[in-house]
Amino acid sequence: MSVHTQTSRMTTAKIRQMKGVEKITMLTSYDFTLASLVDEAGIDILLVGDSASNIVCGNQYTLPITVDEMIFLTRGVVRAANHALVVCDMPFGSYQISEEDAVRNAIRILKESGADGVKLEGGEEIVPAIRHMIQAGIPVCGHLGLTPQSVNQFGGYGLRAKEEAEAAKLLHDAKLLDEAGCFCIVLEKIPAALAKQVSETVSCPTIGIGAGNGTDGQVLVLHDMLGLNMGFKPKFLRRFAELAPVVTGAVQDYIKTVKDSSFPNEEESY
Ligand code: KIV
Repeated sequence: MSVHTQTSRMTTAKIRQMKGVEKITMLTSYDFTLASLVDEAGIDILLVGDSASNIVCGNQYTLPITVDEMIFLTRGVVRAANHALVVCDMPFGSYQISEEDAVRNAIRILKESGADGVKLEGGEEIVPAIRHMIQAGIPVCGHLGLTPQSVNQFGGYGLRAKEEAEAAKLLHDAKLLDEAGCFCIVLEKIPAALAKQVSETVSCPTIGIGAGNGTDGQVLVLHDMLGLNMGFKPKFLRRFAELAPVVTGAVQDYIKTVKDSSFPNEEESY
């Protein structure tokens, strides 16, 4: 049976119903093999984040990744998703030019990748685009706080909304995204008290990263939480495994055994 006809698959309606009942789990995924493991483990949402620009492509920023590249990555994740909802990030430049362009790109993403929804960074300024997408039947996840596509504007990846004015704007933006019909909102790197206040104010679920424990769910970048990305150590990151030394050790063993001719042995030969 196709994954799309299985009734056990997560939907945006089910994600909404989880608010106040059960915490929502989201992790990034960028390929079939790891996404299969994450899906099998029972994650609610697989996010094909534009952090793929850093994690997969080795770019310094998320800005260079394209719609075509996001579609390519998302296809593999969709094929892996027997249970989870798959959300694809709309990359920088794919929704800022005009509402029409935003809807066209979102439709391309859904049609060509099979994703269940899209995620966009920003508040009031992108609400018209979000309204058009939702009218077109495209589920939208919002993203407020630290929005890495605006790194050139912020000048870094520091904590957002520390000051009262920025916190008030974030709360206002969250209400607008909620009213526009977003099925959830990611809150990145903001004070825990503000994230809790937003979560208690909006009707849709919030999913936090570096936003404390008062949100309706949590998201992390898979490679960070698996300890594959040892250079990245923000305060909010908990490593649930330390896989980098495991991978390096295995590769060193492979190199050694090939060099000393102990691999392959007789049992490993035909
Ligand atoms: O691109 C990404 O990985 C994200 C998460 C950090 C939420 O947007």
